[in-house]
Amino acid sequence: MEKVRIGVVGLGGRGNHHATLTAALDKAEVVAVCDLYQDRVDSVSQNVENVCGKRPTGYLDYKEMFEKEDLDGVIIATSWTTHTRIAVAAMRAGIRPASEVYGASSIEECWSIVRAYEETGVEAMFLENCNFGREELALLNMARMGLFGEIVHCQCGYEHCLRGEVTMGNENRHYRFNNYAHRNGDVYPTHGLGPMSKILNINRGNRFVSITSMATKQVGLNAFAKKNFAEDHPANNVNFTMGDIVTSIIKCAGGETILLTHDTSNFRPYSRAGRVQGTNGIWLEDKGSICLESENGAEGEVWKPFSEFMDKYDHPIWKKFNGICLEKYGHGGMDYIVNSAFIDSIINNNHPAIDAYDWAAWMAVTVLSEQSVALGGMPQLFPDFTNGSWLDGTTPKGEGDYCLD
Ligand SMILES: NC(=O)c1ccc[n+]([C@@H]2O[C@H](COP(=O)([O-])OP(=O)(O)OC[C@H]3O[C@@H](n4cnc5c(N)ncnc54)[C@H](O)[C@@H]3O)[C@@H](O)[C@H]2O)c1
Repeated sequence: MEKVRIGVVGLGGRGNHHATLTAALDKAEVVAVCDLYQDRVDSVSQNVENVCGKRPTGYLDYKEMFEKEDLDGVIIATSWTTHTRIAVAAMRAGIRPASEVYGASSIEECWSIVRAYEETGVEAMFLENCNFGREELALLNMARMGLFGEIVHCQCGYEHCLRGEVTMGNENRHYRFNNYAHRNGDVYPTHGLGPMSKILNINRGNRFVSITSMATKQVGLNAFAKKNFAEDHPANNVNFTMGDIVTSIIKCAGGETILLTHDTSNFRPYSRAGRVQGTNGIWLEDKGSICLESENGAEGEVWKPFSEFMDKYDHPIWKKFNGICLEKYGHGGMDYIVNSAFIDSIINNNHPAIDAYDWAAWMAVTVLSEQSVALGGMPQLFPDFTNGSWLDGTTPKGEGDYCLD
């Protein structure tokens, strides 16, 4: 296969980024784009043409696109509640889907991804770019080398001031407004949880067993709206239900715990709040520091800057991209790598680095955390989406250069 033929569904900020980034890759062409809004179809088609000289065919209906186009893969960057049905339709049409990140609204949604994959054999990839960040990859490498000893606890989260993005959802035709107006749980778990899941071998020797979640009151969004918008603005006429901070604890079959935070409604700097802790060491993202028994020698239990460890422990995936100016492709290079991983899995007919089982388990966190919050923190059980293969070692692993397993 010389160049893979890619479609992109959902052409907001993220879909535009995917379409133009993918059009710039040597081994891919963006042949079709789709959105519910004609103006977005037109502008993204033009942007793709500007990058590669060829204009993709535009669609307003993804089913029509799947029927008419001979696609090898489709990137889905729509609103959270529409990814699953589009991904399932793609698999049933023989097209490999790669989905932007989101959380599920029901457990049945998670199973539908697994079933579509198992019934069709069409590979599906969850596009969690943070799994391919330099820090996250180096940590995975260090964990695999045993530098933390036996890992007992991880922390992660999505801590990002999104007051403007959420409250201006109506003006921007953005889905977050509606989700924050009606839901209460960790609606965006995977930027932090994806990398920690690979470190903890989730679905391959380990699994999530249960989750308990609590939410604070909601004040940030309504306070922001009151200060910044007129009385008749939509954000001043809704009581957002989403607690400002949602905190969850996941218990894993291997005995580890994961503390997960969703914190997007208040004034604060960006963080994914990472912490990896094992018997022989600890890494803390916000402190930018690490303390490892094997490296500290006579100095004992003192923090060292993590930046000093990166060159030494860079993951082979990161090293592969040495020399490519990754910064210009977004999010410090991880966007380029995750898209390259998807394209590579199609070209080489590989099992993807983040597969249907990871997709189902990671996005189940959202609906289970909503249920737990609604029940005052009562633990909720994760289904075993691998039907036991996490235990007997038969869950398929990622293949090729981008493998995270
Ligand atoms: N990985 C990252 O770093 C990152 C960053 C930003 C957004 N995202 C994810 O990307 C996705 C899109 O985010 P966004 O900010 O671009 O959202 P957006 O609301 O700006 O764009 C979503 C687009 O999808 C379209 N859409 C919705 N339903 C559709 C359907 N059935 N058929 C065709 N088009 C449809 C909408 O019309 C809209 O144009 C989300 O899942 C989000 O979580 C990921």
